[in-house]
Amino acid sequence: MTALTRSPAWAALTQHRQAFGDTHMRDLFAADPSRFDRFSLDAAGLFLDYSKNRITPETLTLLLDLARQQDVEGWRDRMFGGAPINLTEGRAVLHTALRNQSDRPVPVDGRDVMPDVRAVLERMNGFASAVRDGSWTGYTGQPITDVVNIGIGGSDLGPVMVTEALKPFAHPHVALHFVSNIDGTHLAETLKWLDPDTTLFIVASKTFTTQETLTNAHSARRWFLESAKDPAHIAKHFVAVSTNEAEVVKFGIDPANMFGFWDWVGGRYSLWGAIGLPIAIAIGPERFAELLAGAHAMDEHFRTAPLDRNMPVLLGLLGVWYVNFWGASSHAVLPYDQYLHRFTAYLQQLDMESNGKSVTRGGEPVDHATGPVVFGEPGTNGQHAFYQLIHQGTSLIPCDFIATATSHNPIGETAGAHHRILLSNVFAQAEALMRGKTADEVRAEMTRAGKAPDAVEALVPHRVFTGNRPSNTILLKSLTPATLGALIALYEHKVFVQGIVWDINSFDQWGVELGKQLANTILPELDSGPQPGAHDASTSGLMGWWRVNR
Ligand code: F6P
Repeated sequence: MTALTRSPAWAALTQHRQAFGDTHMRDLFAADPSRFDRFSLDAAGLFLDYSKNRITPETLTLLLDLARQQDVEGWRDRMFGGAPINLTEGRAVLHTALRNQSDRPVPVDGRDVMPDVRAVLERMNGFASAVRDGSWTGYTGQPITDVVNIGIGGSDLGPVMVTEALKPFAHPHVALHFVSNIDGTHLAETLKWLDPDTTLFIVASKTFTTQETLTNAHSARRWFLESAKDPAHIAKHFVAVSTNEAEVVKFGIDPANMFGFWDWVGGRYSLWGAIGLPIAIAIGPERFAELLAGAHAMDEHFRTAPLDRNMPVLLGLLGVWYVNFWGASSHAVLPYDQYLHRFTAYLQQLDMESNGKSVTRGGEPVDHATGPVVFGEPGTNGQHAFYQLIHQGTSLIPCDFIATATSHNPIGETAGAHHRILLSNVFAQAEALMRGKTADEVRAEMTRAGKAPDAVEALVPHRVFTGNRPSNTILLKSLTPATLGALIALYEHKVFVQGIVWDINSFDQWGVELGKQLANTILPELDSGPQPGAHDASTSGLMGWWRVNR
């Protein structure tokens, strides 16, 4: 057994889970009129209701004991303090420095990184403003109308999600596009509508060696030069965001047009710095600063609030409770806001690339479950697709509902009618999951509707909802740069807390390497044919099928 599963806090939770049995949340609500007040809190402009969980005050006490035992506070302070907590890569983890609004220095190897952070931010802001006000022009002297970000993973998902979420704040005449997939269709369909004279490319790659990004960037350059002809014009149309100046230069981008960051910023945590350049162009430097300020407010909350009133800590521990003590292997994130339609996709990388690990920080195999599968779609679309399984399926799927008090588009027969319907749905879903519907309630309802007793009895088992299905509800007054910043930081820290409890390194991603390696071997063999014995029969067979059918 690992130290974690042998530990007293783990044993106490195991015992508590047994004693908890099938206690129903319905009864917990009935027994405690203050349950909502007790299990809800405000932080950094967000409101969290976590009362619809399979918890009692004792559950929380035991989960908080686990957090203390695993030294969540110590690791948190080491992260903010610049210690190299990404042990397998020997790196600090300091995305929080990118949004640090305090005067506190942030040392890495004894050197304060804040002056460098501020210098890059200032350059980003200057560039973003010039694109926005038209003073940065293309080689023909025309202002930029379209910005294409070429990047993948962390160099794509965060900027896409945020620019979609903050569309109400976007520049009216500069459109943002994102190309990530190596599938030529992504680039071709994007460029189809664009004019090379007024298009700016941001090539975003931390390493500047990622096959998809470099291939797309080279193809974009060819497309641009087909009309611009002279490579000297590239300087006005291609900028880079990277930590790797040598590779940027090799690609042909002037380092004067490069925006840097550092190895202590993980790809999936990087939207707060230079990788956020498309965001700064879309919403402008002032709004970008508000995004950072919102995230910083959540950082301060996470850093200073007592554990039992600490939103990321509570969300993280509730996740651990379900994954490790109730066997939940997935987690649904369900934003009831169309502007957040890419939020779950973004979160999949944040959570699954961070906590999809099966060895401890010390390299021992874990003997407990770690990160769940994260999935979701915006409400109410998800309701008409996969909620059936969440309500009546055999898996326990904890849900996070996210909603805003006000809409940027309060349309309807009466002002805000759509939004009222949206909110009634999100509140209803959480209630239905928690409360369920008993056989007696089904019987009474069907009988009232005039159904014959036989028909009623035949349908009762199908129409029963067991309920007792857990959810959190996160409410924002409005979706703004500040509240979005706080929301993203909330999930970053939740993932951190879980990684610490599980004793895994949330900041590396070795699991993405093998596929990349094998793709590099297979690529030349697609044309030459597989080397004898180099692959299993299935892989060779698939390659052979392609050679016949291409
Ligand atoms: O998918 C693996 C990964 O390394 C991610 O962690 C990263 O966000 C993405 O590739 C892109 O990497 P880069 O920014 O170096 O191109």
